[in-house]
Amino acid sequence: MTHAIRFERTGGPDVLSFQEIALKAPGDGEVRVRHTAVGVNFIDIYHRTGLYKVPLPSGLGLEAAGVVESVGAGVTRFREGDRVAYASGPIGAYSEAHNIVANRAVKIPDGVGDDVAAAILLKGLTAHYLLRRTYKVEPGTTILFHAAAGGVGMIAIQWARSLGATIIGTVGSDNKVELARRLGCHHVIVSSRENIAGRVREITGGKGVPVVYDSVGRDTFMATLDSLSPLGMFVSFGNASGPVPPFDGALLAQKGSLYFTRPTLANYVTTPEELDTAAGELFDLVARNVIRKSEPKRFPLAQAAEAHQALESRQTTGSLVLIPG
Ligand SMILES: NC(=O)c1ccc[n+]([C@@H]2O[C@H](COP(=O)([O-])OP(=O)(O)OC[C@H]3O[C@@H](n4cnc5c(N)ncnc54)[C@H](OP(=O)(O)O)[C@@H]3O)[C@@H](O)[C@H]2O)c1
Repeated sequence: MTHAIRFERTGGPDVLSFQEIALKAPGDGEVRVRHTAVGVNFIDIYHRTGLYKVPLPSGLGLEAAGVVESVGAGVTRFREGDRVAYASGPIGAYSEAHNIVANRAVKIPDGVGDDVAAAILLKGLTAHYLLRRTYKVEPGTTILFHAAAGGVGMIAIQWARSLGATIIGTVGSDNKVELARRLGCHHVIVSSRENIAGRVREITGGKGVPVVYDSVGRDTFMATLDSLSPLGMFVSFGNASGPVPPFDGALLAQKGSLYFTRPTLANYVTTPEELDTAAGELFDLVARNVIRKSEPKRFPLAQAAEAHQALESRQTTGSLVLIPG
């Protein structure tokens, strides 16, 4: 028997409960991972609230690290005892153990702890595709990155800095400014008391920026549009404040023939080769201290609801992990 966080109806953090579950032997192509650390991601909140629909009752979570406990038929990628991490479905990572598709996991290199792997894999793979593929950041590119002190933000800002970008980051409150600067932001805008687009125009001498990475959604939609230079790219990759409103394509013409994309990690990492390349780059930057391994905030697995409460109330910076008891 093993334990997992489950929920029977959508709602607030209180719908989450810690339950005993039965876990089958891993199927063909699967491995069973005994978790040592579980990554908390904002998408888990979208699943819990029903913004993204999942069949109920359900487990929760897409990311964890741990040790391969048993191997299903046909798996050659891993053996029992390997330290691995993963950042994709099937949903159910908020658990002591989980069966996952072996091709969707990676070995954790020596020198990277399980808690760090669980804290950075999903967010780091996201930062990788955003900065290296969706809009290629080059030396001298000026970018606007919202929620710069958050989990994805913390990795993306350091990564963008290493690529030679000039970085404007937004944070929700004054107490996150110092961290955003330390991560590598050249300019920090406090979204709760400053006019984001106005400040971006000021900083860029009226030009605007060629790309905005926006995971806040509803609350920053207009500010993002108004911060872009002509032909700029609006990268809408999340909805922490709610989904962006439906809009007329003509708005993109009006604001300067802009491009709008709504990317998701699952479309950028579709093969084990893509996963290994992106994770390899991420772990290499961590090994070289380009991305510093800041301590994730830890919660006991059974207290996942508290982790959600902290994340959605904008109290946190960096990553959160759940530790099985
Ligand atoms: N599309 C993809 O492939 C992909 C993959 C991973 C993550 N994401 C998205 O990336 C974003 C960051 O994920 P994360 O797990 O690292 O979370 P996070 O950034 O640690 O937390 C979200 C942050 O968003 C900001 N925010 C602004 N308005 C908010 C509101 N009304 N409610 C809550 N937060 C608000 C807060 O920072 P401030 O208080 O500083 O504003 C908060 O800390 C999420 O939107 C997530 O869905 C997308």
